[in-house]
Amino acid sequence: MSGNQRIAIIAGDGIGREVIPEAVAVITASGVPVEMAFFDWGAERYLADGMTVPPDGFSMLEREFDAILMGAFGDPRVPSNLHAKEILLGMRFQMDLYANVRPVRLLDAALCPLKGVGPEDVDFVVIRENTEGVYVDLGGCFKKGTPDEVAVQEDLNTRKGVERIIRYAFEYCENHTKQNGSPRQRVLLVDKANVLTHAHGLWQRVFKEVSGEHPQIAAEHMYVDAVCLQMVRDPRSFDVLVTNNLFGDILTDLAAGLQGGLGMAASGNIHPGKTSMFEPVHGSAPPIAGRNLANPLGAILTAAMMLRHLGLAAGAEKIEAAVLEAVRQKQTTQDIGGSLGTRAAGEWVAERVRGW
Ligand code: NAD
Ligand code: IPM
Ligand code: MN
Repeated sequence: MSGNQRIAIIAGDGIGREVIPEAVAVITASGVPVEMAFFDWGAERYLADGMTVPPDGFSMLEREFDAILMGAFGDPRVPSNLHAKEILLGMRFQMDLYANVRPVRLLDAALCPLKGVGPEDVDFVVIRENTEGVYVDLGGCFKKGTPDEVAVQEDLNTRKGVERIIRYAFEYCENHTKQNGSPRQRVLLVDKANVLTHAHGLWQRVFKEVSGEHPQIAAEHMYVDAVCLQMVRDPRSFDVLVTNNLFGDILTDLAAGLQGGLGMAASGNIHPGKTSMFEPVHGSAPPIAGRNLANPLGAILTAAMMLRHLGLAAGAEKIEAAVLEAVRQKQTTQDIGGSLGTRAAGEWVAERVRGW
């Protein structure tokens, strides 16, 4: 047995199959002591033989791997999106990856659509609850297909689930600094407690209780609609945001816009102490898939995030520095102002990393 950490790679569908190989090449170039194993879970496999996740698939990942790097799932040939649900949401739920950590960092002012906003101004993180909310698929249809149809989709919020994600956010705030080295100091609860009085009333009560255990951290609250406005008006005010599954999903696409688009946004699906999964925020982008157009930097930054999680900080730093250099020198894909294809943009970063 080598002492190498083991990473499971699942590229998935669409541009996942283009950006993940670039992230893999960059990991290899960094020389970190890891072994990678590749799995073909995704639409192609599902269409071929009906398999989404093999029996025992998630426990195998937990037993045999230290981390998982995934691309994206979604294919026009599978309109039900069943495979994506079973693989992606299945993994989040069954492996209990309750903290979806989505850092929002602007690497260069040129990438931000807002006027006069630079890297110092956009450096926050969204901590998204990842195992509950409206994602649990509780509900159903009554009198389906008739004029009297009724559709119900429940929003599940458990005391335990809400408490652990809020605790995670305060601990994250305590243990992480901003890019410029200054400490993180504030946790903002984002909800809609003025309307969702039962569910978000619970979030408010738990937030109050947990924040009391962290008197050195400022505990703040905003309604989600106001957060949307503030995010495009003055993103400087954000530090650590904690929110439910659905709001976290929506807010992090909006926040990706501040970073240069979905091609730049990284994320981790984490259960502390257990095998965790890392994936770019973007989806499979069918219209640009297979055309060598997809930006691989979100996937590459996700790989760096995974290496840092595995305790391989030196490798992560090299990769992040190389991505920053690529952005500054416009050695990038078209979506962020360069003229390279996916492969050339990935290779540019890998080459930099290899040289250091
Ligand atoms: P998407 O993220 O795939 O694309 C949204 C927009 O961003 C498109 O204009 C796309 O071209 C662009 N984009 C995304 N990633 C990019 C990249 N790396 N480089 C350049 N441009 C990029 O979202 P969508 O269109 O809403 O969804 C497409 C499919 O992906 C759907 O099936 C959806 O369910 C799925 N999806 C999967 C995941 C996941 O597996 N994690 C996440 C989001 C969406
Ligand atoms: C994300 C995606 C997923 C989500 C979809 C594909 C199920 O949008 O990871 O942001 O809604 O969580
Ligand atoms: Mn999303």
